[in-house]
Amino acid sequence: MLSPLFLAATLLLLSAFAHNTANAQVAVNGQIFTNGLAIVDAPQPGTTLHAGATQSVAIDISGDGHLPADSGPGSSSATHFDSLEIYLTSYATSLNLTVSSGPVLLTQEPGSTVKHVNWLIDSCIPSGNYNLTFYEGSHINSEAFFIITPLPIEIQNTNSNPGQCSNGTNPIQSYPQAQVAPSHSPWLDANNSTSNVQYPSVADAAVGLAVSPIAAVAMSFLLYSLL
Ligand SMILES: *[C@@H]1O[C@H](CO)[C@@H](O)[C@H](O)[C@H]1NC(C)=O
Ligand SMILES: *[C@@H]1O[C@H](CO)[C@@H](O)[C@H](O)[C@H]1NC(C)=O
Ligand SMILES: *[C@@H]1O[C@H](CO)[C@@H](O)[C@H](O)[C@H]1NC(C)=O
Ligand SMILES: *[C@@H]1O[C@H](CO)[C@@H](O)[C@H](O)[C@H]1NC(C)=O
Ligand SMILES: *[C@@H]1O[C@H](CO)[C@@H](O)[C@H](O)[C@H]1NC(C)=O
Repeated sequence: MLSPLFLAATLLLLSAFAHNTANAQVAVNGQIFTNGLAIVDAPQPGTTLHAGATQSVAIDISGDGHLPADSGPGSSSATHFDSLEIYLTSYATSLNLTVSSGPVLLTQEPGSTVKHVNWLIDSCIPSGNYNLTFYEGSHINSEAFFIITPLPIEIQNTNSNPGQCSNGTNPIQSYPQAQVAPSHSPWLDANNSTSNVQYPSVADAAVGLAVSPIAAVAMSFLLYSLL
């Protein structure tokens, strides 16, 4: 027989999972506010991009002017970026291509509040729907977060037989990926507006903890075995 405690733990963990299926991004005046510190200026979600072309990926790391310039990795401020990486991903075709990895994105263009990746869209990428997936590690009010933001884009490739991608490929991880993310952008108020934000406004926001349902059940078995 299942103990009520076991069921309670399972339900708690599953509801934590459900909580995070809320939107991972909000568009305000053409800027994409992630649930972390990053604000994506380009590309816009739903954009069609072309294999073989170069696309600028632009990210405001200043929180719309709220964060000082030295809020990158190693900063001792309560609110700062630890890491920011970008991958082109597709669960449909199990593709996971590096767009920008390591600390280069956050440390390049010193003094600039907007960081740019001149992304050469490899001509090996077949036509289809993808996510430009942003992985942000950051501290917000001294609390550590790991925020995943999938930005849907379409890629068109005029070459119908583009061949296999080999450079910058990574294994695709199982879906959904675990994250610990605030429930909304720290730079937006309750009306999704930037105009009336107390810096950083995430302090009182609920924290969404996303774990896979299998992990949730496994964790509750673990809890159960400890009881
Ligand atoms: C993009 O991400 C969303 C949310 O995680 C997911 O549901 C969708 O399947 C992804 N699209 C592709 C092409 O992998
Ligand atoms: C391979 O991809 C990396 C980025 O992942 C890029 O910096 C490098 O120039 C690419 N090399 C070739 C040969 O395309
Ligand atoms: C893509 O690969 C990177 C590097 O290995 C990894 O951090 C990320 O979680 C992967 N994303 C997916 C959706 O598999
Ligand atoms: C949201 O908008 C409503 C109606 O305009 C207003 O009363 C409320 O104060 C706003 N909330 C915030 C946090 O700005
Ligand atoms: C804020 O944006 C989220 C995500 O798009 C949406 O679900 C929510 O209803 C918006 N809130 C308001 C007050 O417009």
